[in-house]
Amino acid sequence: MFDTERWAVLAPLLQAATAGRDLLDDTIRRLTPAAVARAVADEIKDIKADVRLDLRFDGKITSHLTTGAEVVIALDLADAVRGLYGTDERPWPSLAVRTPEGEVDPANPGAWFRARTGIGPAVDAVLSALRPGSEDLGSLAVAFGSDKWGDLHWYTQHYERHFARLRTEPVRVLEIGIGGYDDPDRGGGSLRMWQRFFRRGLVHGLDTTAKNVTGPRLMAIQGDQSDAEFLDRLGRELGPFDVIVDDGSHLNEHVQISFHALFPHVRSGGLYVVEDLQTAYWPNWGGHPEAGHGTSMGMLKSFVDGLNRAEVGDPRGGGSYLERNISGISFHHNIAFVEKGLNEEEGGPAFLRTLC
Ligand SMILES: C[S@@+](CC[C@H](N)C(=O)[O-])C[C@H]1O[C@@H](n2cnc3c(N)ncnc32)[C@H](O)[C@@H]1O
Repeated sequence: MFDTERWAVLAPLLQAATAGRDLLDDTIRRLTPAAVARAVADEIKDIKADVRLDLRFDGKITSHLTTGAEVVIALDLADAVRGLYGTDERPWPSLAVRTPEGEVDPANPGAWFRARTGIGPAVDAVLSALRPGSEDLGSLAVAFGSDKWGDLHWYTQHYERHFARLRTEPVRVLEIGIGGYDDPDRGGGSLRMWQRFFRRGLVHGLDTTAKNVTGPRLMAIQGDQSDAEFLDRLGRELGPFDVIVDDGSHLNEHVQISFHALFPHVRSGGLYVVEDLQTAYWPNWGGHPEAGHGTSMGMLKSFVDGLNRAEVGDPRGGGSYLERNISGISFHHNIAFVEKGLNEEEGGPAFLRTLC
């Protein structure tokens, strides 16, 4: 039902990119150099540059981008993988760039230099794409057309803070709500934003509409966030996820169904984020001005008491699944971050409870 084969090459490659060179080479051999070279080429296929990229591995070369171009960037495949998905700032020891010699007119040598105009920017465009930097998430939201910053919402500042420790990890991300509503060709802004932000991330989007949103590390899934059975299957087949973001219908009932179905599929140390919590206060969306029991905010508020259950009982015995596995909650305007982790800290000493 889900395209679980989609990540067969990428998932192990993203892991191996930060390993030692021998392990990375072994992984490339196991996945096949041709498949790995395709994954690398897929990351930079939108670069418009009259440049050929030659990727070398075990003495064999595959050519990519503009295969007939005179300007050639040659790189070991493992170096390219490390540049794209690695985390260190090591140079590319195998990098070589061949440019056309051209004819030099001794009477007008300046013409030789002028003829080379554009080579530098073209080579730089390819090499920059092969070593993505750490762009600001707000700028990425605006660039890719998500409303998480710059218009309507101001969420990316909070995401930056809470996701900082995950940014360079090989994370699995799921966002409910791809955007563009019933238009298959619209939306995908935030998925593209996450794909860039998490350079080692595999990004999944869920929407009721089948979406034509593609990317080297993107998967669009059609389904309904109010279908708990479907969500559980999705979690079992494509999870566990390090990050889940609910930016779907924002109906209070849906938010709660999704949370209960998907939170078990968040990895320990991961985060479940709920956006647009203003609807918890709006009756037309299933909310209430007090945002109590039955609303999405009411559900999240109840987790706060769960965090401190050791003060009224035994932290190691009993307690619901959520009480035992939510280790932190952060609230900001209209957005909450729920942290998954063991909640088994001891309560205060018994004598203190009766002291006052
Ligand atoms: C606000 S948009 C998402 C915007 C996107 N996350 C972004 O930041 O660019 C909400 C999306 O949720 C989808 N949606 C609405 N109800 C849904 C449901 N029950 N299950 C899944 N997706 C739903 C809509 O089709 C719409 O595309």
